[in-house]
Amino acid sequence: MQKLRIAIAGAGVIGREHCTLITGHPGAEIAGIADPAPAARALAESLGVPHFGDLDTMLDAVNPDGAIVALPTGLHKAAALACIERGIPSLMEKPVAATLADAFEMARASEAAGVPILVGHHRRHSSDIREARRVVQSGKLGRIVTVSGMSWVDKPDSYFDIAWRREPGGGTLLINLIHDVDCMRFILGEIRRVGAFVSNDVRGLDVEDTASVSFEFDSGVLGSFTISDAVASPYSWERTSGQALYFPHQPGNYLFIGGRAGSFEVPGMALWSHGPEGGDWQDRLEREVLPLDGTQTYENQLTHFLKVITGDELPVIDAADAARSLAVILAVKIAAGEKRVVDIAELLEGL
Ligand SMILES: NC(=O)c1ccc[n+]([C@@H]2O[C@H](COP(=O)([O-])OP(=O)(O)OC[C@H]3O[C@@H](n4cnc5c(N)ncnc54)[C@H](O)[C@@H]3O)[C@@H](O)[C@H]2O)c1
Repeated sequence: MQKLRIAIAGAGVIGREHCTLITGHPGAEIAGIADPAPAARALAESLGVPHFGDLDTMLDAVNPDGAIVALPTGLHKAAALACIERGIPSLMEKPVAATLADAFEMARASEAAGVPILVGHHRRHSSDIREARRVVQSGKLGRIVTVSGMSWVDKPDSYFDIAWRREPGGGTLLINLIHDVDCMRFILGEIRRVGAFVSNDVRGLDVEDTASVSFEFDSGVLGSFTISDAVASPYSWERTSGQALYFPHQPGNYLFIGGRAGSFEVPGMALWSHGPEGGDWQDRLEREVLPLDGTQTYENQLTHFLKVITGDELPVIDAADAARSLAVILAVKIAAGEKRVVDIAELLEGL
């Protein structure tokens, strides 16, 4: 099989992981790395691939089959347009863009040119998240009533030594909660309204460290999610799934989905129900653990991107879809700041 040639823009924390993933994938090879940092030049040299100071020069020089954009979020729009102009499909890291206007401009340009953008909401490629969506859609849980989850992690103080992590957009809402929101949208459908409390009390930085959010979905499902990057705990997708980069696997759950006929734990995959006999709140519940397919999230994402490039698959999450996850996070910020319930449609109006 001919390997697809993938260019990497931005060889920082996640860009380097993409390099490792491509190197280990039978269907892809690195066409070049664009990043002015000396460490990126050294990485390119060690991998024996061409190095460039910027994305446009790299795209013109190596004409790759696809590009992975792992640049700071504020640079995503320009990078997306540079790829689209040249007919090059991209895997754009999340959040899709810094603003909704940028995100929708990217989506429109992608659609008009017929050049796909896949957004790096990697959890959509995780077997546990895919199974949760399948279980909900199968009707096994009956009508879904509620969802509740948490993402409690303890980032070290040194994490905030990097300037952009202390500036607007560097807090746990846009960095972390956007993944949880995207998963809930993927599993349960669109979110209609949010209410929220957001705090920076623990670290006292300009960016938030903790939030409590309430959701109303289009379906009528009511949900809640708490998030903090200042709590020592095992309760996050990263730790419980064993699917994330950099995190030890400590089996457990972070998301609970409740329906009239049963409830479901993610990523533990336990389905609780009364079984064929039926029952109510004072009867014992049966616990069935559903099997997972054993695949790995980031490898799945890369394999999917290669199929998007060849036209065999449509992006599991494109720029317009990812923009809606961004809209929910921006709505959470408004809800907390203005102490009111915010309708997502308010943010999408006119875009
Ligand atoms: N999906 C995930 O698991 C995941 C994880 C981490 C980060 N991210 C996302 O990936 C993006 C990058 O995050 P990061 O943590 O890797 O950031 P980072 O700061 O570690 O890396 C960014 C890199 O881009 C380079 N760069 C800056 N300006 C450039 C330019 N004009 N041209 C070329 N290179 C340039 C920098 O030198 C740096 O090496 C962000 O959007 C972030 O939200 C996603």
